[in-house]
Amino acid sequence: MKRFKKILKWTAITILSIVIIFVIVVFALQNKKFDAPFPNLHATNDSATIARGKYLAFGPAHCSGCHTPTEDHEKINMGEELPLKGGLNFDLPIGTLYSKNITPDDETGIGKLPDSVIARSLRYGVARDGRALFDFMPFHNLSDEDLVAVLSFLRSQAPVKNKVTDNELNFIGKAVKAFLIKPVGPDGEVVKTITPDTTAAYGKYLTHYVTNCRGCHTNRSLMTGEYTGPFFAGGLKFEAADGSYCVTPNLTPDKETGKITGWTQQQFIDRFRLKKIIAASDMPWDQFRNMSDNDLKAIYQYLISLEPIKNATGPTYVAAASTKK
Ligand code: HEC
Ligand code: HEC
Repeated sequence: MKRFKKILKWTAITILSIVIIFVIVVFALQNKKFDAPFPNLHATNDSATIARGKYLAFGPAHCSGCHTPTEDHEKINMGEELPLKGGLNFDLPIGTLYSKNITPDDETGIGKLPDSVIARSLRYGVARDGRALFDFMPFHNLSDEDLVAVLSFLRSQAPVKNKVTDNELNFIGKAVKAFLIKPVGPDGEVVKTITPDTTAAYGKYLTHYVTNCRGCHTNRSLMTGEYTGPFFAGGLKFEAADGSYCVTPNLTPDKETGKITGWTQQQFIDRFRLKKIIAASDMPWDQFRNMSDNDLKAIYQYLISLEPIKNATGPTYVAAASTKK
């Protein structure tokens, strides 16, 4: 009996020590820094370049969908172009993240950040302070030319003072940050320039690296962002605080389970000209509505060229009432 008590005591002490060491390590690793190259890219005053950057920001790359606060979204829905002053909250199992102010305000925005630092964040997923960014933005393989266009547009905006709340991670989030989050960089070679056209090849560039159709229409871990399902086969669930949720449909051309199977190219374009049909949808329809016909054609051509994958994802929206037992 005495021996048993002793073993129990030592087991408890060991477990407690492991827990304490784990907690200490988690906190110590909160300031983990990463290295990545600083791209040698610089903003210009060229008006065509700025216009391209603006088109990307308010259209396919939908910066304006994420870098504006919720209270601005109704006006954006009515077609207004509002400043990218940040502050949108993303409520995740790991805590709440906030998009940053990306207007050129010196104190609260990107005014004092060199071009190379912003370019590094977007391409290599390393934030201004060296920490790994949570992988919300798919722009790692944005061409040099498009990245310069985005930088040039960012610099051309009027500065707006808006101090954004720091990310609030819970303990699980801190542990995930300490051990699992690494900067996500480009896959393969980054091209210097890519000419927009209506081919599947350009559609691939858009859906993977600009519009992020792939990032949402593929199942992934909500903890780490890692892909867990086949690309474009859908199934990613976005749950709201009230229990209602959206699920991304399968965009591959599977006969039975593909959402756009049977849609003509024109029907596909027409759908993008509409406003949100499901009000709670996480898809940035308000930004995608600004995409050119040619960009949408390229995306359509790419999607119908994919390998069909059978994956029934169920209804795209389930209201709160129907989730109650
Ligand atoms: C899907 C939402 C989303 C989209 C789209 C998006 N961002 Fe972000 N962005 C975020 C979030 C969230 C953060 C903060 C991430 C973090 O703190 O780890 C962020 C951070 C940033 C940062 C700060 C990096 C740093 O060093 O601190 C910059 C710069 C930025 N975004 C620029 C852009 C630009 C430019 C675009 C469009 C080309 C864009 N973002 C599109 C969500 C988004
Ligand atoms: C931020 C996540 C997100 C991104 C990015 C995204 N989607 Fe979606 N998508 C959703 C969600 C959630 C739904 C289901 C709710 C809805 O229909 O709006 C959806 C629905 C759809 C539908 C079905 C629409 C309908 O009328 O039933 C199509 C088609 C679609 N997405 C295509 C795309 C394409 C193409 C892209 C890239 C240009 C894209 N999505 C990017 C989240 C996203």
